[in-house]
Amino acid sequence: MDNSKEKTTPGFNRRDIFKTGLVFAGAALLPSACKVTAGANTNSATSTLPTRNLGKLKVSSIGMGVQNMHRKHNTIVPYRPEMIEILRAAYNRGITFFDCAEAYGPHENERILGEAIQSFRDKVVITSKFGWNIDLDTGRRLPGLNSKPDHIKLAVEGMLKRLRTDRIDLLYQHRVDPEVPIEDVAGAIKNLMDQGKVLHWGLSEPGLQTIRRAHATLPLTAIQNEYSMVWRGPEKDVIPLCEELGIGFVPWWPLGCQLLTGWIDANTRFAPGDIRAGASRYSPENIPHNLKLVDLIKTWAVRKEAAPAQIAIAWLMAQKPWIVPIPGTTSMDHMQQNSSSHKVQFTSSEIAELNAAVRAIEIKGLRLPEATLAFSGVEAPLKK
Ligand SMILES: NC(=O)c1ccc[n+]([C@@H]2O[C@H](COP(=O)([O-])OP(=O)(O)OC[C@H]3O[C@@H](n4cnc5c(N)ncnc54)[C@H](OP(=O)(O)O)[C@@H]3O)[C@@H](O)[C@H]2O)c1
Repeated sequence: MDNSKEKTTPGFNRRDIFKTGLVFAGAALLPSACKVTAGANTNSATSTLPTRNLGKLKVSSIGMGVQNMHRKHNTIVPYRPEMIEILRAAYNRGITFFDCAEAYGPHENERILGEAIQSFRDKVVITSKFGWNIDLDTGRRLPGLNSKPDHIKLAVEGMLKRLRTDRIDLLYQHRVDPEVPIEDVAGAIKNLMDQGKVLHWGLSEPGLQTIRRAHATLPLTAIQNEYSMVWRGPEKDVIPLCEELGIGFVPWWPLGCQLLTGWIDANTRFAPGDIRAGASRYSPENIPHNLKLVDLIKTWAVRKEAAPAQIAIAWLMAQKPWIVPIPGTTSMDHMQQNSSSHKVQFTSSEIAELNAAVRAIEIKGLRLPEATLAFSGVEAPLKK
């Protein structure tokens, strides 16, 4: 990667960070010159990123997930004004695709995103998701799922208020409801589209037949599934199906929920409440084995003069031109780093070599706790 022209801020060349090795040491060691002054000039993006298409929806080629901004990994409380600054600074760096859900917080992350983007709302694409069973008024999580059409309509009214907007650009069903035919869900979304309250729709972690049925009823814009160098499950069926149908793909956990960044080592343990504490991929037995992949990424980071997180994001972008990663961060420095990942370019022989090396590494353990995994790949019931 040629970083010679790239500067995080005037007078500070990122190549210098790599030379001194500071990039691996994290935010605390970065010089204050590297901090972006956020809040200033929030009405127009001062940098641009290349764009990509998800179906017919144009978005910045790198998006940003906001799930951790209210509670990082469900355990740490980020400083809210700082999160708003990071979101505004992300926009100033050209990120115009922000991923949210009513379940994040619940409700609170939509409030954070809505406040952050209010002054440039029309220049960005925002997503939210319905589908977990969440009390519409209190935001309390109730057991299971709820995609009943009447519930979807009310859930969207709440989203619009919290996001301070009159429309959701891309609305996903967070998980397929095994009690509601997908045609009924599509009908509710169509109704919202007719009112201008929803512009595009998508599904997260759906079954394959449900994708086909949903798309035939009301064309889908994106599928959002977990996909990264550590979980390549969608390569088998879902990504080929998206290609066949012309649906975009948005990988969640593009950094393997931090694993691929190099910030997790063999001694890392996760607090109760952190989803990784219940997923065997991150267990004390499996982490040492799975770190072989991180070693590979670090080798490529040196080779491409990039950070490990940038290799993980650039690898996703190199798989298909209609894949748009949404790395999540609560750190200004990480946001800056992630939003430069498109500058890491692989030649076709390099990506073939990297893909082969990634495939040769066996990953041990389940990607999610078993109870959570049960909600993935579900087919909606047939309409009677
Ligand atoms: N549809 C679904 O079911 C679903 C499920 C999960 C997530 N999502 C979406 O996907 C988005 C991304 O997921 P995620 O944030 O949970 O996981 P992720 O993007 O794979 O990883 C985020 C983790 O990596 C760290 N990180 C980020 N950039 C870094 C960098 N450059 N260097 C070092 N560490 C870095 C973050 O810590 P710092 O905060 O310290 O940077 C955080 O711990 C979410 O925000 C959400 O919108 C969707």
